[in-house]
Amino acid sequence: MAIEIIATGRAIPPRRLTNHDLAAKLDTSDAWIRSHTGIGARHIADEDTACSDLALEAARQALVMVAAQEGSGNETGDMTQVALTLDVIILGTATPDYLGCPSTACVVQDKLGARNAAALDITAGCSGFIYGLEIAAGLLGTRSGRKRALVIGSEILSRFVDWTDRGMCILFGDGAGAAIVERTENPSAGPAKQGLLRTILGADGSGTEHLIMWRGGSRNPYKPGDLDGMPPHIEMNGRAVYNFAVKSVTETIENLLAQENITINEVSRIVPHQANARIVQAAGKRLGIPEEKFFLNIQEYANTSAASIPIALDELNRAGELRKGDLIMTIGFGAGLTYGGNLIIW
Ligand code: UT7
Repeated sequence: MAIEIIATGRAIPPRRLTNHDLAAKLDTSDAWIRSHTGIGARHIADEDTACSDLALEAARQALVMVAAQEGSGNETGDMTQVALTLDVIILGTATPDYLGCPSTACVVQDKLGARNAAALDITAGCSGFIYGLEIAAGLLGTRSGRKRALVIGSEILSRFVDWTDRGMCILFGDGAGAAIVERTENPSAGPAKQGLLRTILGADGSGTEHLIMWRGGSRNPYKPGDLDGMPPHIEMNGRAVYNFAVKSVTETIENLLAQENITINEVSRIVPHQANARIVQAAGKRLGIPEEKFFLNIQEYANTSAASIPIALDELNRAGELRKGDLIMTIGFGAGLTYGGNLIIW
């Protein structure tokens, strides 16, 4: 048995906000943002677009890819049929449609017509897709009878940043990425090992306050008259998250290689969470990994949290840069604090 990614998709809002656009309104500059983060632009959803809308678009693209592989009927009909083959939908997000309930995954399930799928959201910050893949693998175990999962990372971060805080608002963007994951029964027909090989997941809850939305939950519920005009927003201790990120990325790469008993030379591509190019560069330098091994698209999308890894995978996949048999590593970290990584034979 193997757990394989058979299709990918992504949704990027068309509205593009460059560093120069921000510098026209805030005390910042393109040079500062680029040199401190690697970010050049971010994409911002319009006000009618919610997390589930981007998730739905990314999911549809992935379903169409499966339909094309299976090659029958017209595109819409195909996609609808493929949606019915989904057994579970897992959606990682920090910016769901609704606070608490219902899950955004249920909204997506309904709009896709994926009537046979269970649906749940996971809250693992920017590690959401990495956690989601491993949860999918667990849910698709042989005993379960389940065969196909849709794993999505989707975020509307622009709605939860303080646009007057130059230290925060420059960092984030909106977007969604999706992958369809399938249990295949006959790996003996192909290479000895395939699909999801290994995952490391971890958390350090002592860092909860380093990346947090303080208001609106049961700890600090809104009371009448509470709102001071400031919508709920994400707050971050950037330096603490940076240090955690460099350490967790470095250790997770080392541990994935050691546990699988391989060297970095065997890994074709590392697809890191796109939070800050300097984090990736620092970890690469510590481990002696050439920068080109890491795929970065942060310059165009900024940090899209749980969406950043599946967006990157879809970009690579559609550009033909992930060949069958390539060994791919994902690496991420985020609010919680959480961290993790997957090793996948494409
Ligand atoms: O997805 C996971 C979540 N987040 C992360 O991974 C982020 C992790 N942290 C980081 O990437 C970095 O800490 C930041 C990019 C957020 C900040 O970079 P930094 O090098 O740690 O800058 P800093 O916060 O120490 O600020 C240095 C200076 C300060 O000025 P003073 O006090 O030295 O005069 C800031 O006020 O840079 C100033 N600054 C800015 N200047 C121009 C902060 N933001 C800006 C800005 N433009 N946008």
